[in-house]
Amino acid sequence: MKIITVKDPLAGGKAALDIFKAAKERGVKTFGLATGGTPETTYAELVKSDLDFQDCVSINLDEYVGLPADHDQSYAYYMHEHLFKAKPFAASYLPNGMASDLATECARYDQIIADHHVGLQLLGIGRNGHIGFNEPGSPFDGTTHEVALTKSTIVANARFFDREADVPKQAISMGIGSIMQADQILLEAYGEKKADAVAKMVQGPVTETVPASILQRHPDAIVIVDEAAAAKLK
Ligand code: F6R
Repeated sequence: MKIITVKDPLAGGKAALDIFKAAKERGVKTFGLATGGTPETTYAELVKSDLDFQDCVSINLDEYVGLPADHDQSYAYYMHEHLFKAKPFAASYLPNGMASDLATECARYDQIIADHHVGLQLLGIGRNGHIGFNEPGSPFDGTTHEVALTKSTIVANARFFDREADVPKQAISMGIGSIMQADQILLEAYGEKKADAVAKMVQGPVTETVPASILQRHPDAIVIVDEAAAAKLK
């Protein structure tokens, strides 16, 4: 794992832009993308940059179950607002959280992943070490699946909703096995609330109890952390 420590999320976004630029230069055509607070500075840098993704495909990690794409807390809406409206891709895929048959939707998404090999996968990390919505205990070889969100994730995401009760209880997430297939993985983590998870991911045992710890076994994983998130690294 390569660790890049930066002063703050703004500097992190700039460091991430360099990694996206390098990926474009070596011909990456499929980008795995994440949502949440963490990648906002990265998307702002991509939007300001001269990078063009019109010959590329994006595949997002996850989506809430039960929120339509035009709901302002859906990940489809987030991606449109933060990136796609300024930087369109040839095709952009997210799981359909409104699908009537979630098992069929998961299989459809796995086929999309199989058809487009991800060259660079962007990730955030949950306070409990989750990646995507792969909560602690998720199998390292998992594919796309339906997830019951943990209480800690619901509480963490409540800041984006009017009330905690409005946070969906389920999501569809790409599995850890699929995430690990990406040629390169870039995980960003900012703020003191991520310091424990970052230390466990980088220096703890590789265990399904800390899903992100599997990145220790990826041949090309880069972690961008700010000083607060790096505070518990030895
Ligand atoms: C989002 C995702 C999640 C987030 C994680 C951190 O697509 O897959 O794993 O990356 O929950 O969220 P933030 O960035 O809001 O702290």
